[in-house]
Amino acid sequence: MKTFYVTTPIYYVNAKPHLGHLYTTILADALARHHRQCGAQTFFLTGTDEHGQNIERTAEKNGIPVKEHVDGVVAEFKDAFAKFGLQPDHWIRTTDEYHERGAQVLFQKVQEAGFIYKGHYEGWFCTGCAEFKEETEPGQAPWCDLHDRHAERVAEESYFFKLAEFQDRLLDLYENNPEFIQPEARRNEIISFVKGGLKDLSVSRVSVKWGIPVPGDPQHTMYVWFDALSNYITALGFGNDVRQGFETFWPVVLHLVGKDILRFHTVYWPAFLMAAGVPVPKTVFAHGMWLSGGRKMSKTLRNTIDLGILLKYFTREQVRYFCLREMSFGQDGDFTYEALIGRVNADLAAGWGNLSSRTLTMIRNSCDGVLPNASAEISDEARNAVEAVKAAFAEAEKTYLTEFERIATGRAVEAVWHMIATLDKYLSDHAPWKLAKDPAAQPLLETVLYMAAEGLRHITVLMAPVMPEAAQAIWQQLGFAGSPADVNPETLSWEALPSGTHIGEIQGLFPRLDKGKVMTDIKQDEAKQAAAEAASLAATEAAPTAAAPAPAAMPALTVESPAVPVVEEKGYITIDDFTKVELRVAQVLEAERIPKADKLLRLQVDVGEEKPRQILAGIAMYYEPEKLVGRKIVVVANLAPRKMRGLESQGMLLAASIGEEGRPVLATFTEDVPNGARLK
Ligand code: MSP
Repeated sequence: MKTFYVTTPIYYVNAKPHLGHLYTTILADALARHHRQCGAQTFFLTGTDEHGQNIERTAEKNGIPVKEHVDGVVAEFKDAFAKFGLQPDHWIRTTDEYHERGAQVLFQKVQEAGFIYKGHYEGWFCTGCAEFKEETEPGQAPWCDLHDRHAERVAEESYFFKLAEFQDRLLDLYENNPEFIQPEARRNEIISFVKGGLKDLSVSRVSVKWGIPVPGDPQHTMYVWFDALSNYITALGFGNDVRQGFETFWPVVLHLVGKDILRFHTVYWPAFLMAAGVPVPKTVFAHGMWLSGGRKMSKTLRNTIDLGILLKYFTREQVRYFCLREMSFGQDGDFTYEALIGRVNADLAAGWGNLSSRTLTMIRNSCDGVLPNASAEISDEARNAVEAVKAAFAEAEKTYLTEFERIATGRAVEAVWHMIATLDKYLSDHAPWKLAKDPAAQPLLETVLYMAAEGLRHITVLMAPVMPEAAQAIWQQLGFAGSPADVNPETLSWEALPSGTHIGEIQGLFPRLDKGKVMTDIKQDEAKQAAAEAASLAATEAAPTAAAPAPAAMPALTVESPAVPVVEEKGYITIDDFTKVELRVAQVLEAERIPKADKLLRLQVDVGEEKPRQILAGIAMYYEPEKLVGRKIVVVANLAPRKMRGLESQGMLLAASIGEEGRPVLATFTEDVPNGARLK
């Protein structure tokens, strides 16, 4: 029997699930359903990645024990995925005991094979990526674009994995197994990365407590990626006897990942497995990223699409359809509600929905609700038209299967829409509503309606993995027993419809959305949500912390939220007090670091005056100078000049202060504003 094992990444539990996580899981769910429908023994795995410094810190910040924190977020993930109707066969948690044991067995095997040694790690680490970062400028903390922050310095005893020894074996793997990394463009990137040389990898930390102890040396916890990657085999019983399936499913697996984590899956993961003597996975497929406002959607950037809002205005199957249809093979895609509404109205309401309600209504009205069969007594011309529809369907069905196999679900669904268009045209050409008025045209009428019903059956079978609930509902409306998911799309043929079958109750499944109204409502909800988040963030910020860091050399003026009751403590100010502060729009003309002053940047800004002003700002740890040039910011223009490090600062810039570390986020404008404009 064929098998199909598909995995998603296991998700970090330091924030709530968003559309990005949902997308990979929808894709896995659809692929699993498709392969199950084609008769394969299927296993679909998803889960949560619960160890590591980032999660430890998030829990600490929220003031709750780590296990309690992770349990809470895991429940949110499970609930969100269930609300979207996703049905994984197993949900792995890296805090599950069997996983911890299995990961230790893998570590031990690598160690016993001589690929792990003890040493000292000194370098940089981004906790957001859980990745060691290379220094770009000597002695400077490397910047992580994804997490908008600098990496942190780590210097401690560590176990190392001899990754460098695997360069040739990895290159052979890529060379001999072109299907190992997909799509092709990504494969080339990884090949050139590995050709550039590999360094041994630190695979343990002593300063991180929240992790799986290294076997035989519990002072160390396992590097979180070693722990996480091993989930794909511990879930099948590797290194434990709690789970099963290793012999059945490994190594013929499809790892679905976002391209952000491809390197971990195609360099580290096969190297760990080779070292342990375990077969490497068959395929790692990297899909593109959903962007929002042009940047990767992520919790750090706060530009995620909220799942609650999605479910309030759309059905889960509309969202599912959009994701599977819209994300082009391996490319990034911009997520907008407008595009989602567009697809719902054009493809679902006016497309599949209209075809099915038209077909069913005609059968009800012209055939007493009984499914007709094709008649032999039709003209050659009519027969040719039937053959043309069948040929177009055969072609589209072939495309559908090929594209599903390539994980190009958008193309596969597009092929189904060719079938819908073909059938729509066939119906318009033959106008069965006119044929129904002419008793002599009865054989042709029955043939046309048979073609419509049987064509709709084909479409419904193919849509079962994409929109399982809608497919099931249309199936029932057609009067069929069982489920379209039980019909193998590889062996679909034009069949005589079971004679005497009565169609079910006709119900519209795909209502049109009022774009203007839905967009206005969504915008309102988003604004409310943003305000609530800002208030809760401000409340956290306002809480006194013993470990509050000393102010930076030239502190940025921070904006305090009106939700914070400090106003009462400080007393109100009058409008005159406020107008004393001259806030103006400024544009950064130049920005550079100041030698030997880690925290300071020297800016030249245009405040709409004759000459630019020089401002020194304590933001060097958080902003790359070159990225500031051209930006419009806000400055306090009437602050008395002050000398720092021998340089005069002629003003101060405005920034929000975030988190315990007081990370500054510059105030800025989304609309065009002239330099020097006053803020009042
Ligand atoms: N815990 C690691 C993965 C370990 S796997 C052994 C991790 N977790 S994550 O929570 O950050 O999830 C990353 C994955 O979520 C991406 O690889 C992708 O599958 C999905 N997505 C997150 N944001 C996404 C988009 N904006 N767009 C599409 N998918 C995205 O990395």
